[in-house]
Amino acid sequence: MIQETLAQLLNESASTLGIDESFYVVKSNRAELCDYQCDNCFKLAKKYDKKPIELASMLVANLKENKYLKKIEAVQPGFINMSLSDEFINSNVINMNSDDLGFIKDTKEELFIIDFGGANIAKPLHVGHMRTTIVGESLRRIITFVGHKTISDVHLGDYGLQIGQVIYGILEDNKQLEDIDIAYLEAIYPKMSALCKTDEVVKQKCSDITKALQDGHPLYQSYFKKIKEVSVNDVKRLYDYLSAHFDLWLGESDAYQDIPTLKKLLEEKKLLTLSDNAYIINVSKETDSKELPPLIFEKSNGAYLYSTTDLATIYSRIRDYQPAYILYVVDNRQELHFEQVFRVCELSGLTPNTKLEFLGYGTVNGTDGKPFKTRSGNTPKLDDLFKEVNDIFISKKEENKYMSTDSQAIVVNAILKFADLQNSRDKDYIFDIQKFTNVIGKTGPYILYTYARINKILKDSEIATLSNNIYNEFDRKLRLKLIQFAPAIRQAFANRMPNYIAEYLYELCVIVNAFYENNHINNLDDIIKKQDWLYILNISCKAIKKLCYLLGIDVLKVM
Ligand code: ARG
Repeated sequence: MIQETLAQLLNESASTLGIDESFYVVKSNRAELCDYQCDNCFKLAKKYDKKPIELASMLVANLKENKYLKKIEAVQPGFINMSLSDEFINSNVINMNSDDLGFIKDTKEELFIIDFGGANIAKPLHVGHMRTTIVGESLRRIITFVGHKTISDVHLGDYGLQIGQVIYGILEDNKQLEDIDIAYLEAIYPKMSALCKTDEVVKQKCSDITKALQDGHPLYQSYFKKIKEVSVNDVKRLYDYLSAHFDLWLGESDAYQDIPTLKKLLEEKKLLTLSDNAYIINVSKETDSKELPPLIFEKSNGAYLYSTTDLATIYSRIRDYQPAYILYVVDNRQELHFEQVFRVCELSGLTPNTKLEFLGYGTVNGTDGKPFKTRSGNTPKLDDLFKEVNDIFISKKEENKYMSTDSQAIVVNAILKFADLQNSRDKDYIFDIQKFTNVIGKTGPYILYTYARINKILKDSEIATLSNNIYNEFDRKLRLKLIQFAPAIRQAFANRMPNYIAEYLYELCVIVNAFYENNHINNLDDIIKKQDWLYILNISCKAIKKLCYLLGIDVLKVM
């Protein structure tokens, strides 16, 4: 609450001058000049018929005595620069000596359903599924930490055309239920999907099978159950590897039971229109700046679509859980689909007390700027990708070879997750394996290495209390960074963007390393100083661990 405390000081100063405004204080963008700054005088000056610098100077001159600031000044052309007192910095550091590092949780607990993962059964997972999983899991952890309830739902793609294609292949190959394993599925899906591109007759058959399956055809249902079981087991293994947690393992197929009720509801609201024997919903509004095409609710052959199952899923989520929010961590390319779905919710009054948020993510590209491929030249299956990252990490340093398999898995996770989460969620990014496996730089191994380094120093040392001293610039910089822990998390939460946490974590690690390299703790004779430095390193250690946790990254005590 540091920024709020400083803003409050300015508000009070202004108020006694007859200026009734709310001021904002932000982190300084020139750390060598001050810790925090306020830029509001530029905007407000005109209103009070003053120059920005005059207004800033008045506020500063009128500020009441306080223990928070060491220095405050108005500087040309109208900034207010502020630096914190050592006392205030230290009291905030001491506040962090708790499990949640002094983070003040939201008092009103709300329910967030988070829809991420979204694997399509019978199809191999690809890099896109890695991104939704990494970002979604991180958001799940952040939202929980901030004080809310979450329900994560994997929303499997389990009733689409791919199932009809695979069943067709199974029938052609004359396979029995017990013959269907993951190796078979991995081979049959690409074969069938290629065939459907060239053979119209097969394509039609696959589509008919899909429709019959959705209508409950017993034989197809038995194949579907088996395909799903085999596929879900494989998908679970990968989600486990990425330590993603799902409370619900529902999918498109589970939404079917609610479609009739939903259809009735939409009919009552007069939203369904018959067009070429298909049921569509017109979702455009006069005020729209771009044309929003109608949503197709039911095809002319009676089949339902991705939009239908998404609407029915919303219907059941509202009925069963009454969430305050439903968040969708899905590829940017599905934005239009969700715009249409959300618009139907708005028009039908399906979600009066629930906010629906589309949290799109960008594409993972290779160093050539095109969608990422592994060394084999294919769009990577995730297993191959994990192996490739592991191999490259191991090739970087002799010692890496001797790590246990568990530790290697932790490092690979850190590499993938930190590579991803340091980017703004909605932007594409370049996955450069060589770069992200380095120990130096903005990488997962760098973060893990910093954590292990602090642990080595802290090992067997007693943590006592913190005195009121700050000893040098490296020391002060570290303490100041530490107390910006909560705002970084708040920012990530407010924007649903884990990169704010990743950025803060990286900066913290850089500062911790500089602190350590310039302040030699081990051979210190000054007991108080040693205690103080161990104290702040201990808080740094806890903070790094917690931030890693929020990004879904496990840490290693030794590396
Ligand atoms: N299965 C979809 C895909 O692979 C993602 C599902 C996203 N969630 C949803 N409710 N539509 O693209």
